[in-house]
Amino acid sequence: MLDQTLLPGVVRYIDAHTHADVADAIRRLAVRGAPLIGIAAAYGLTLAARRGEDTRRAADELLATRPTAVNLRWAVDRVLAAGAEAAESEARDIHDEQRQADLQMGELGAELIADGMTVLTHCNTGSLATGGIGTALGVIKTAYRQGKRIRVLVDETRPLLQGARLTSWELAHERIPHEIIVDAAAPALIASGEVSAIFVGADRIAQNGDTANKIGTYMLGLAAQAHDVPFYVVAPASTIDVNVADGSSIAIEEREAGEILAFAGRQTAPASSVARNPAFDVTPAGLITAIITARGVLRAPYHTSIARIVQQPAVVR
Ligand code: MRU
Repeated sequence: MLDQTLLPGVVRYIDAHTHADVADAIRRLAVRGAPLIGIAAAYGLTLAARRGEDTRRAADELLATRPTAVNLRWAVDRVLAAGAEAAESEARDIHDEQRQADLQMGELGAELIADGMTVLTHCNTGSLATGGIGTALGVIKTAYRQGKRIRVLVDETRPLLQGARLTSWELAHERIPHEIIVDAAAPALIASGEVSAIFVGADRIAQNGDTANKIGTYMLGLAAQAHDVPFYVVAPASTIDVNVADGSSIAIEEREAGEILAFAGRQTAPASSVARNPAFDVTPAGLITAIITARGVLRAPYHTSIARIVQQPAVVR
């Protein structure tokens, strides 16, 4: 697995031999992004199965790594249900299905981007987050590959800089014009009329469309509504949690204060200071113009549009 904590400066791969290696990589964000967390966990469980370990216990260890991205539980449940013998082929299916879903979301979402647009995105939702072309970033890449001249404003995404480090790395690779902004610059740029549309990913979408995503997404939704700019969420169906009625029941990961109190290993706040570090926030469905899934572009009322595409009945847990 590519160690994303070292990007863009160093390209180094991690060899995972056990599910615990995979769990460690997920926990420290070497592997991250909701769909990729699910894919990595599926392969991690495959390693446990191959080694003849207790897969239920391995699953619990993997599930404990990050609480918000529901793709994690979705993928782990699929591999457990497939059984130890079929674990690897199930993991490969999950990976392939994500690649395919990315292409479909890319095509559907690109229809919402016109030539000459400036689009704004948050965090990293590209290949580094899904293993395919990405979700929100996949839409942007698809529009660019279709020949549309676009410009991308990239939120740096505090505190771990997934936007500045990872999204910009992918955009540079694709030669897509982009500028990095500090997260707090986004609302003013939206107000100025410079931003044509906002595309973000999701870690968990409730039945009513409320969407958890990287901290800082909610302020984009508020600014978008205040200034009449379309705000799109792009996510595969595996990000929809049919067991959660609305955003108030979505578990929000709180990460270590050290990510805020220090920067690149150097203490930046007084030694006596403490910090709060919620890694995600919830954007209420009312601020979302549409949710782009591989199964179609969903509009409000999301209760109905989401229920229509979710084929599996609710799993009680
Ligand atoms: O903490 P991270 O980097 O895993 O957070 C990632 C995000 O919030 C992404 O927007 C989300 O997982 C969607 S990735 C296609």
